[in-house]
Amino acid sequence: MAEVLTKQAPVETPGPSLDRASAGKPLLSSTRIARRVRRLGRQISEMYADIENPLVIVVILKGATVFAADLLRSLSIPAELEFVRASSYPTGTSSNGHLKLAHMVEGPLVGRHVLLVEDIVDSGLTVNAIARRIRRMGPASVRIAALLDRPARRQEEVNIDFCGFVIPDRFVIGYGLDYAGLYRELPHIYSLT
Ligand code: PRP
Repeated sequence: MAEVLTKQAPVETPGPSLDRASAGKPLLSSTRIARRVRRLGRQISEMYADIENPLVIVVILKGATVFAADLLRSLSIPAELEFVRASSYPTGTSSNGHLKLAHMVEGPLVGRHVLLVEDIVDSGLTVNAIARRIRRMGPASVRIAALLDRPARRQEEVNIDFCGFVIPDRFVIGYGLDYAGLYRELPHIYSLT
């Protein structure tokens, strides 16, 4: 069961000039994220404890890289890594409605169990489009792990199998999430709006 955030942390310095030293209270601290990610890792390890071949983790670039790196190290089962490049928000804080997919998984997925790893599910278009493509490759199963679920902007129903936090309709940065390509390196997650 994902943690649902109802309280909004104060926001101080929005925009590209965000001062790391005065960014205000994080929406999600690194400690809280780490605790949740470890728990997700345990749940995923239990789910796939009996599968024959290593789990195939498909990381959706770029935002999911930080989450995926921590999630991977919290697993107690063998896993392989694949990457998919998806981009829908080239600038700014809202979707422009265009989704670019590139660098699809090349390895054979027939009969394999696949876990798509996302930093955030927003409209749902990205993860659903990738899941549809992966399913055409004949896997045994396709499941979704997302650190953040922002259901307010959902355009397509998404079944998130492993969800970290359900967040309000705020633009968030840090822990892999960007604003105009910046702030992915921040250890905490902040709200910009
Ligand atoms: C973000 C995020 C998800 C997607 C979610 O990616 O990383 O992949 O948007 O949005 P959706 O549910 O509305 O499709 P973005 O396009 O910003 O690229 P990035 O991961 O490289 O930052």
